[in-house]
Amino acid sequence: MTDGPADGTPQVAVLGGGVMGEALLSALLTAGWAPGQVEVTEHSTARADELAGRYGVRTGASNVDAAARADVVLVAVKPNVVGSVLDEVATVLRGGEVVVSVAAGLPLAFYEQRLPAGTPVVRVMPNTPAVVGKGASAIAGGAHTTEGHLALVERMLAATGLVVRVAEKDLDAVTAISGSGPAYAFYLVDAMAEAGVLLGLTRDLATRLAVATVEGAAALAAQSGDHPVVLRERVSSPGGTTVAAVAELDAHGVRAGVVAAARAAAERSRELGAQYAG
Ligand SMILES: NC(=O)c1ccc[n+]([C@@H]2O[C@H](COP(=O)([O-])OP(=O)(O)OC[C@H]3O[C@@H](n4cnc5c(N)ncnc54)[C@H](OP(=O)(O)O)[C@@H]3O)[C@@H](O)[C@H]2O)c1
Repeated sequence: MTDGPADGTPQVAVLGGGVMGEALLSALLTAGWAPGQVEVTEHSTARADELAGRYGVRTGASNVDAAARADVVLVAVKPNVVGSVLDEVATVLRGGEVVVSVAAGLPLAFYEQRLPAGTPVVRVMPNTPAVVGKGASAIAGGAHTTEGHLALVERMLAATGLVVRVAEKDLDAVTAISGSGPAYAFYLVDAMAEAGVLLGLTRDLATRLAVATVEGAAALAAQSGDHPVVLRERVSSPGGTTVAAVAELDAHGVRAGVVAAARAAAERSRELGAQYAG
């Protein structure tokens, strides 16, 4: 098998124009795809018209028609409808197209069993900050995926933020860290803002300070490359305010809570995958 559509800028059909579908569509256009090279399918005519108006891409209701014209089929519907969407498009795929899916939980084998023999499949676990180009996505290729296919998917996702390659077995852990992770960060921001209000700041001011602090801390960690413990020690002078605060976080089991939360998310990801895959 050749890399096929990995060469050049292939025609992409995005199936499902929801939150993730729109983020991926926008990322493709930023990455250099022309509007004429991307097509989106959507149940709702109003939503299809909205996306066509905003991005100048072709939209429609037929997954079959869009897939028949595509080199890459990007599945962005909810996991519970992926099976029926694959059954539809399998009738028009010729085996050389790349199928890329952002649906949570469903194993690569689920796709490979429903698609023509030899179809390359790539699973992606993105997260919502992809919408602002600050996402973190992990990709895993299936039995018929080549280096060229993975490189193509990296190119498609380049404008969404960080993209890393992992083995499929690690996707539940990725879901628990970066997939669900934005919610942990929002939880922290909310708690910090609430604390600010308790200490007498207005909610608006406390929220702006909390958001900028978390954003800045993440940027500093990313740019310096230093270990988080080193960065933490740098703002913790002996007998000072920060070390007193961190001692309270430890005393309240916040670290253990984060670990337990991630374990629960990974376990739930495994359960949902098994449930959807039937
Ligand atoms: N959002 C996230 O943070 C996130 C993170 C990682 C992975 N994902 C994955 O991304 C996928 C999409 O999630 P989402 O949050 O973008 O959901 P969403 O906003 O509900 O988007 C799904 C879209 O697909 C449309 N749709 C439903 N059935 C369809 C069909 N048969 N053909 C074409 N379009 C159809 C839906 O239209 P109707 O509403 O009219 O049915 C909806 O607009 C899911 O599989 C999810 O697991 C999402």
